[in-house]
Amino acid sequence: MAAGFVKQLTKAGHLVQIVGRNTGKSEALAKQFGAKAAAPAEAAKADVLILATAYGDAVDALGALGNLAGKLVIDITNPLTADYMELTIGHSTSAAEEIAKAFPGIRLVKAFNTIFAQVLASGPELAGSTVPVFIASDDMAAKETVSTLVHSLGFGAIDAGGLKNARYLEPVGGLNIYFGYGAGLGTSIAPTWLIAK
Ligand SMILES: NC(=O)c1ccc[n+]([C@@H]2O[C@H](COP(=O)([O-])OP(=O)(O)OC[C@H]3O[C@@H](n4cnc5c(N)ncnc54)[C@H](OP(=O)(O)O)[C@@H]3O)[C@@H](O)[C@H]2O)c1
Repeated sequence: MAAGFVKQLTKAGHLVQIVGRNTGKSEALAKQFGAKAAAPAEAAKADVLILATAYGDAVDALGALGNLAGKLVIDITNPLTADYMELTIGHSTSAAEEIAKAFPGIRLVKAFNTIFAQVLASGPELAGSTVPVFIASDDMAAKETVSTLVHSLGFGAIDAGGLKNARYLEPVGGLNIYFGYGAGLGTSIAPTWLIAK
């Protein structure tokens, strides 16, 4: 997912910094797309942080960035079992809510968790439609910023309500994985919503 974000964000003209635990990997990715590999302290100065680790690594990865109070963080995670076929948490909480709980000062936005890495990398048009990104957060201004960012990449943005609705979005991410891998439809698929005008 990180590579897809770096590709699409740099293409859209955003200044992108990559923070990883493996400097060589970050530098190679940065070089590929004209981005910059950065130290954790630099990342904490960014306008928007995209958390692109597994859910199980999220708290460690964000924790390594120092003080994140007031920072807008996009959580793209799906809390998956090792075989990717089930969610590890849900119903009464979500990965997004647990991450928000671990970093009470951050402005957390759930987004992109229903977009396969291959779709992110290949771009917003799929099967003749614009792929939508569902965006959930309790912070309206943060949701607006993420919506603008999503549109700058050419994807559609759908306001999916408050952060609690990550409890719905994460199972949709799980269903997408089932369709893609379990049902064998492949990764050139994305969930959307049909709305009669
Ligand atoms: N793949 C998809 O199609 C897809 C779609 C929607 C949502 N998601 C979600 O997006 C997230 C990333 O998925 P992915 O497929 O891109 O996974 P991935 O290829 O395994 O990449 C995860 C990255 O996280 C890095 N990482 C792990 N712990 C870290 C830490 N403590 N500090 C800094 N970096 C750390 C890893 O670094 P190393 O290289 O050093 O191990 C790796 O580069 C997951 O939560 C997944 O559920 C994935």
